[in-house]
Order: sequence, then C-alpha cells, then structure tokens
Amino acid sequence: MIIVGGSSSRDLAKELAGILECTYIQAASTKFPDGESYTRIDTETLDDDVVIVQNTYPNDNLIEMFLLQDAVRRLGARTITLVIPYFGYARQDRVFKPGEPESAKVMCKHLGMNCDRVITIDIHKEAILDYFECDHMDLKAAPVIADYFRDKKIDLVLAPDIGAANRAKDVGERLGVAYDHLEKTRLSGVDVRIAPAKFDATGKNVLIVDDMIATGGTIVAAASALREVGAESVSVACTHGVFVNNAIEKLTGSALSSVLCCNTLENEVSHISVAELIAGAIRE
Ligand code: R5P
Repeated sequence: MIIVGGSSSRDLAKELAGILECTYIQAASTKFPDGESYTRIDTETLDDDVVIVQNTYPNDNLIEMFLLQDAVRRLGARTITLVIPYFGYARQDRVFKPGEPESAKVMCKHLGMNCDRVITIDIHKEAILDYFECDHMDLKAAPVIADYFRDKKIDLVLAPDIGAANRAKDVGERLGVAYDHLEKTRLSGVDVRIAPAKFDATGKNVLIVDDMIATGGTIVAAASALREVGAESVSVACTHGVFVNNAIEKLTGSALSSVLCCNTLENEVSHISVAELIAGAIRE
C-alpha cells in the first residue's frame, strides 16, 4: 500500500503511513501564475493499492483532489482509496430554493467517478454518503476525543444542539460521566441563541463536543450560557476546526478554558489525531 499526501493533510498522511508501515509519497503542489493548480506525484509507477489523503475544502484542495485522483490512476494504481478528513460542502446537502444545486451530491458524484472507496470522518450529514456509488465509510472521532479527555477531570459532556446529541452521548459514556444537549436557534450565519440549560451545570467542568467550529458563534454562545449558570470551566473539542476569519481569537478570548480539535484540518489547536482511527479502518 502507498499513501499519497495532498497539500491539505501532509502531517496526517505521514503519520498514517508510519502507523501502517507503508510507503509515503508527498505530492508536490504549486500554483501557476494565473492561479490554476498544479500537482505531481514524483514516481515512475504506483503499481499498488493507493490511498490519497486530502481535504475537499477549501475549493483549491477540492481541485487538487481531482488532479491527484487522475495522476494516481495514470501511474497504474490497483485500487484508489480517498481519505477525506474534512469533506467540504457537506452542509449544503439540500435544495432550499428553486434554482439551487444539490452541492453535496455534486461533490460525491464527481469524487466517486475516479476511486474505489471513500473514507470520511464525522461528515456533517451521513445521508450524503449514499450519493457515492463506490464503497464508503464514515469514521467517528468520539473515541479519540474521549481518550484525549480521559484524565482531564470532566464532569459533564454537552452538545450545543440536538444534532450533536449522539456525539455527546458517545463521549460521555466513554468517559463515564453525564451527558446532555443544549437548545440552539440559529439567528444568522454568525449568530446563534442558546436557551438556558435545563440541567444543573453549577460547579461542573463541562466539555462541549461538536462536529465542527466554523465562525465560533455556536460555541461562544454555549460557553457563556454555561458560565452564566455557574459552570466551573468550559472546554470545547470538535472534530473539524474550520475556524473562519478570526474564530480562534474569538474563542480564546471567550468564556472557554480550552479549545481543541482533531487534525482533520491542520491548525494551531489540532492536537487530537485521527490517524490511528483511519489506520484501523484501512487495516480492516
Ligand atoms: C451545526 O449543525 C454544526 O454542528 C455546528 O454547530 C456549526 O456548523 C458551527 O458553526 P459556527 O461555528 O459558525 O457556529
């Protein structure tokens, strides 16, 4: 097996190759002066099972994935597995107004045309995966998040909304502590309202878990609602730290004690690795 690391996920791809004890090749990626993407896998042949590790967000990474799929195929790959740590466009899974595309479906259709299987991690809506005609598997980051917090004295695990309630349950059960979810109403792309907590968070060390942090609006509102009811500390762990604009500064200057995410997107707080999780799925 050969692991090819795209430019979005080099550290993760390298770590994965180390765990699986297989060859790692880093794809070279640059831009032409007009902004078009260029990529090259510097080898004569890839006569083996090949795993490409690359995000499909932001758009440049999506284009790079398409190019890598073609390059790998041309080099003779026996099978192609796409590991997409953060699957972009997963939140655009429905048509709300006439004339809109079904963006998530478009991405699955096109990515699925040139591979044998796809592995994603905590994709925003699992139903999207059915658009892939090839084999597909969505891995859950809850076990590695729970492992990270095992010795951090957490008393209560919370989801910021009902959509993430199962994740809080999974992490809470693994840590052997209580879990619940808050009630969130989205007011705009940036602002959310969190209803006062129905449970007693007074004096508790709370861990909020979510699939992603984008603007940080959800987590900032959840953390201040919890501090208002007397939570001792509020930490947050998400799978995908998208952190648009100044989200990390916004979060570190808020009521939160710590902000952590997995390395599906590599950034200054992505200290929870999903490499073992992916390696386990590939081995199987
Ligand atoms: C929503 O369904 C998601 O699970 C996240 O809670 C949301 O996308 C976070 O967005 P933001 O950080 O912009 O509030």
